[in-house]
Amino acid sequence: MTRLVGSFAEGGDDYERLRPSYPDAAVDLLAPGRGADVVDVGAGTGKLTRLLMARGHRVRAVEPSGAMRETLRRALPGVEVLPGTGEATGLPQGSADLVTYAQSWHWTDPERAGVEAARLLRPGGVLATVWNMFDDTVPWMVDVERAMHSSERAWQPGPDGGVAARGEPGGTFGPRRRDLVRWTDTVALDDLRLVVRTRSYYLEGTVAERRDIDHEVEQALARHFRDAPGGQSVEVPYVTTVDRYARG
Ligand SMILES: C[S@@+](CC[C@H](N)C(=O)[O-])C[C@H]1O[C@@H](n2cnc3c(N)ncnc32)[C@H](O)[C@@H]1O
Repeated sequence: MTRLVGSFAEGGDDYERLRPSYPDAAVDLLAPGRGADVVDVGAGTGKLTRLLMARGHRVRAVEPSGAMRETLRRALPGVEVLPGTGEATGLPQGSADLVTYAQSWHWTDPERAGVEAARLLRPGGVLATVWNMFDDTVPWMVDVERAMHSSERAWQPGPDGGVAARGEPGGTFGPRRRDLVRWTDTVALDDLRLVVRTRSYYLEGTVAERRDIDHEVEQALARHFRDAPGGQSVEVPYVTTVDRYARG
C-alpha cells in the first residue's frame, strides 16, 4: 500500500498534466442528472472530481496520498478532501447516492472496498468504476503501447478496454453493467513520449528498466511519426470503460 501511494506521490504533477481527463459521454453514464451526493475515491489530482462538481453534484473526495490531496486542494479550493482509502473511507453510513473510482479501483482490495461502498450508499445507490485505456483496436497505438510495456513479457493488447480481469466488488451489489466509450485526445507528441513516466510500472522500475522503456517508446514513435515536425500534436485513441453496480 505504502509503495503504491509512494509511486503516485512521486508522479503527481506529471500525472495531472499528462494523463487524459474523461469524455462527457462517460460522465453521462457514470453520473446522470445533477445534485447527487458523490464520494470520489482515489480522487488523485481530481480529474473526475472536477467534472462531477461541474455538473452540480455534491462531491467528497477521498485520497490516501497526502501529496495528491494537496494538489487537489490547490486545484479545486471548494472541494471537501478527506484522507482515507477505498477499504476505509471514514465517511458516514448511508450518506452517498454514488461512489466513483476513476482509475483507482484496481488499487483496492475489491472485496473490502465493495463492502465499504455498500455501507456508504443509500439503497438503490451505485458504485461506478472507470478506466481510460489506450484503444488497442488502433494498430499504431498497439505498437507504442507494446513499447511502453516492454519490461513486461506477458503484456497483450486489450481491444475491449483491457479491464476484464479487475476484481468484482464485495458487498450487496447487483450484476455489473459495462459500457465502452471510444474517443480521442489531442496530445503533443513530446507529451505522449512522457506519458509512460506516469505509469506505476515505470515509476517503480529500476534505472536500467526505465532507460530501456524510454528507448523502446522512442523507437516506436519514430516508426509512426518519423516526419512529424517538432511540437506536433497527435490524436491519441482511448477507450473508456464504465462499469456500474447498483446496491441491492
Ligand atoms: C491512477 S490514480 C487516479 C486518480 C484520479 N481518480 C484520476 O482519475 O485521475 C489512482 C489513485 O488511487 C489512489 N489509491 C491508491 N491506493 C488506494 C486505495 N487503497 N484506496 C483508494 N485510493 C487509492 C492513489 O493514491 C491515486 O491517487
